Amino acid sequence: MTKYAKLTIDGKEIELPIIEGVDGDKGIDIRLLRQKTGFITYDPGYGNTGSCKSAITYMDGERGILRYRGIPIEDLAEHSSFVETSYLLINGELPTRDELNRTSVQLNDHSLVHEDMQNFYQHFPRGSHPMGILSAMVNALRSFYPELLNTDEGFEQTFLRLLSKVRTMAALSYKISRGHRVEYPRPDYTYCANFLNMMFNTPVKPYMVRKELVRALNVFWILHADHEQNCSTAVVRSVGSAQTNIYASISAGVSALWGYLHGGANQAVIQMLSEIHEKGVKIEDVIKRAKDKNDPFRLMGFGHRVYKTYDPRAKIMKKNCHEVLNRLNYQDPLLDIALELEQIATSDPYFNDHNLYPNVDFYSGIMLRAMGIPTNMFTVMFAIGRLPGWIAQWRENMTDPEQRLARPRQVYTGYAPRPYIPIEDREPVEC
Ligand code: CMC
Repeated sequence: MTKYAKLTIDGKEIELPIIEGVDGDKGIDIRLLRQKTGFITYDPGYGNTGSCKSAITYMDGERGILRYRGIPIEDLAEHSSFVETSYLLINGELPTRDELNRTSVQLNDHSLVHEDMQNFYQHFPRGSHPMGILSAMVNALRSFYPELLNTDEGFEQTFLRLLSKVRTMAALSYKISRGHRVEYPRPDYTYCANFLNMMFNTPVKPYMVRKELVRALNVFWILHADHEQNCSTAVVRSVGSAQTNIYASISAGVSALWGYLHGGANQAVIQMLSEIHEKGVKIEDVIKRAKDKNDPFRLMGFGHRVYKTYDPRAKIMKKNCHEVLNRLNYQDPLLDIALELEQIATSDPYFNDHNLYPNVDFYSGIMLRAMGIPTNMFTVMFAIGRLPGWIAQWRENMTDPEQRLARPRQVYTGYAPRPYIPIEDREPVEC
């Protein structure tokens, strides 16, 4: 039986249906609010606005819980692979062995990118940010692979194509930016091993794919695979709601992810830690700046819109980072700085009162750096990981009969009506 919330507004009482999700998730259905009262809701940044019902990812920010299709992130990070987790997110269920094998074969079949695409990469100015290149090239995929069939099979081909090609494109972009020969994907390597090989194998220095790095990369991408209605995912859904194709929608998501408050934070963290290291800044001074309301500086890799406790992904990432550095016997002074920053910040009343804890980006860059990934590609690594989430969310949005064109409202605060003044009658402005 539907429950209702009562709202009294201008002396009139209306009832609004309550929507109940799983595990305590609840919302108030305000779709008829404006029609019944003339009011809209005001919620900049959408902190209290549910834009959809979704069966993909569950987050509890107070308890630090994250589950994909009901399965805790800790279990997936421990036991799953990125390909299997992608399948789970997109199709809703874990694959059988046959389904997983078939997916791996198809990912291999789709792993090449059209040779003509390499021309585009060659002509980006040196020093272009890889996220700008990625966004443009994901959009360009629509021109190279225009067949988007509106069938389950067609969708499957498209998502496999995206997952496989974007990974190849990221490595290709790196090789071309260095002026090196492009390394093609290999059929005998798994998804993650192939990426590492395409990045680091050269004709003069064969790359030995280490299984512990492959495992670490699987975990990294699993942790990034979805995060319900975050900024870039909301963008992907929003663009898709205009019946825009999946490539263009995901290209917009890549652009949103680039920002340093979102996925770009992983690059910003390393820049912050490097600056502390190189300039010998005291950790206490960094903390002081982060707390100063007159200083725009924020502690990068700290805080989250939803998590009011330790980000469950950050816990796993921290462990993953330690393991990689140990395995590689890699001493990184930035790790010591990060650990000290975390220790001091988490015992500081400002950070406690504001519920600010390390997020997924705090330790990820240190691990990627140890693996040899250049700093300007960190957010590209995040984007590859987020692909299955964007794909699953785009599809859910397109097939949800309750979804409409995304079109928020506003409360207008500009001029009241006023007449047009012909140019000859306007007051001259002093220059
Ligand atoms: N350092 C110092 N103060 C902070 C920080 C921080 N990193 N984050 C939030 N605050 C303070 C902020 O100054 C404000 O204080 P007050 O209420 O006294 O004015 C309060 O906390 C709330 O801040 P907000 O900006 O309203 O919170 P939000 O929910 O909009 O911000 C955030 C979330 C992630 C943008 C923010 O915490 C931040 O800027 N963090 C640093 C960037 C970062 O690490 N981003 C990665 C997010 S996780 C990966 C992903 O999902 O993309």
